[in-house]
Amino acid sequence: MKKLITGSAMLVAVLILANCSSTKKIAAVPKLTYETNVKTVVVGNCSPCHIPASGGNKRPYDNYANLKSDIDEIIRRVSLQTTERGYMPFKRPHLSDSTIMVFKQWKADGLLEN
Ligand code: HEC
Repeated sequence: MKKLITGSAMLVAVLILANCSSTKKIAAVPKLTYETNVKTVVVGNCSPCHIPASGGNKRPYDNYANLKSDIDEIIRRVSLQTTERGYMPFKRPHLSDSTIMVFKQWKADGLLEN
């Protein structure tokens, strides 16, 4: 009986420790930045319309400053239904939740450039 109790106490301890270290890992995830995470998403999904180098004539989203100042409007529009007015990316399929999460997480992380 004593062995059993010691055994379960150890198991509990191991579980707690395992949990702690995974929480630490989550906290250590690097913050998203424009250069590393956001740029590729925008070039991939908002091109050519918002990328002047590709012939776009809409508000340019090929730079950090515009992305940063418009982030709320960008998150609002990509979160709309495809049929709703103002929906982006214009006339294209809805962005995936994980892609939209990049914009949201970037904002939550403080809109870092690098
Ligand atoms: C096929 C072309 C096209 C694509 C792709 C596209 N847009 Fe747009 N976008 C437009 C047009 C046209 C407008 C102006 C009409 C309007 O405001 O709805 C616009 C307007 C906007 C505006 C309002 C500011 C402005 O330029 O007037 C935002 C914000 C925006 N788009 C975000 C995005 C984001 C973010 C993406 C990529 C995820 C994207 N768009 C992809 C065509 C596009």
